[in-house]
Amino acid sequence: MKRKITLITGDGIGLEIMHAAANIIDKATNNIQWEEVSAGYTAYEKFGELLPEETIKSIERNKIAFKGPITTPVGKGFRSINVLLRQRFNLYCNLRPVKSFEGVNCLYKNLDLVIIRENSEDLYKGIEHMITDAAAESIKIITRGASERIADFAFKTAEKEKRGKVTLTHKANIMKLTDGLFLESGQKISQNYPHINFEDVIVDAMSMKLVMNPYDYEVIVAPNLYGDILSDMAAGLVGGLGMAPSANIGEDIAIFEPVHGSAPDIAGKNIANPTAAILSGIMMLKYIGEETAAIKIEDALKIVLKNNNLHTKDIGGRLSTTEFKEEIIKLL
Ligand code: NAI
Repeated sequence: MKRKITLITGDGIGLEIMHAAANIIDKATNNIQWEEVSAGYTAYEKFGELLPEETIKSIERNKIAFKGPITTPVGKGFRSINVLLRQRFNLYCNLRPVKSFEGVNCLYKNLDLVIIRENSEDLYKGIEHMITDAAAESIKIITRGASERIADFAFKTAEKEKRGKVTLTHKANIMKLTDGLFLESGQKISQNYPHINFEDVIVDAMSMKLVMNPYDYEVIVAPNLYGDILSDMAAGLVGGLGMAPSANIGEDIAIFEPVHGSAPDIAGKNIANPTAAILSGIMMLKYIGEETAAIKIEDALKIVLKNNNLHTKDIGGRLSTTEFKEEIIKLL
């Protein structure tokens, strides 16, 4: 029987890149049946709702979703649907590999690290209010449970991927209670993994070090906000947001999505790079045990990326989204 997966194309370039990635997956395996539902502006236009109940039910039923970017207005309007989904399904871990590919012009060749971002709390709880007209307050929540859980996930990932070091980043010198608790939790969990090195680095220094010598890092674990910022920055080390995949993982539900947003500046032009979506699809296939299909796609993608005549515009090439997809499909 085919495995049903919820497909949410999302907004902006989502429609272009997610269908490209789904087409590629269908070429590599017959075992997937997509259940396409919507969220974001696209859903609002169709159903008058940003996150229709049908979408939630589909994710609950299928347990796995392949999701495109969703537009979130800055400073006003609805809360991020992404944050809502992560909180609703308790997707406590955001896994973001940072890997350079041969042939892609980037700052660091042969880079391969992973950023693990706590996904359920911190300032992303969205507890904000105006105190007076001239003062606003946002509440940062850090709990021992979530911090120990994410630290454990980081060490388990290091074990699984045979990586030798976990680096925890924080700002506990200033936020002694919240970030202090995050650090203390990591230190405690590290004792269960004596065979894996553990260090902590203050987040501002971490940013500088990550830009200057990213090869020093293997697994970085961070609270929500720092993890978000560092992982976008790290995407810049390996060719930009078009190259950065991610997984949001919970106890029994997982959502796979590119790190980038809906890119309204290039939406509808068929020039977006679908690599981040394809790489997220590869992570998803591995997660559900479709290892063979995942490796087939990975190999084809590597061959296409190696040839700089076959690149999309963001990484210096001329191919459209569709042409890039077709090059991969040819190899499958
Ligand atoms: P963005 O990631 O959409 O775009 C930043 C820059 O990178 C733009 O110049 C864009 O053209 C380029 N870019 C992004 N993905 C690309 C791709 N696949 N191929 C080629 N170029 C690409 O970030 P921005 O502009 O800050 O956000 C736009 C919207 O997306 C906002 O509403 C934001 O809230 C939302 N967003 C949604 C996310 C999600 O659904 N997971 C994540 C990040 C942002």
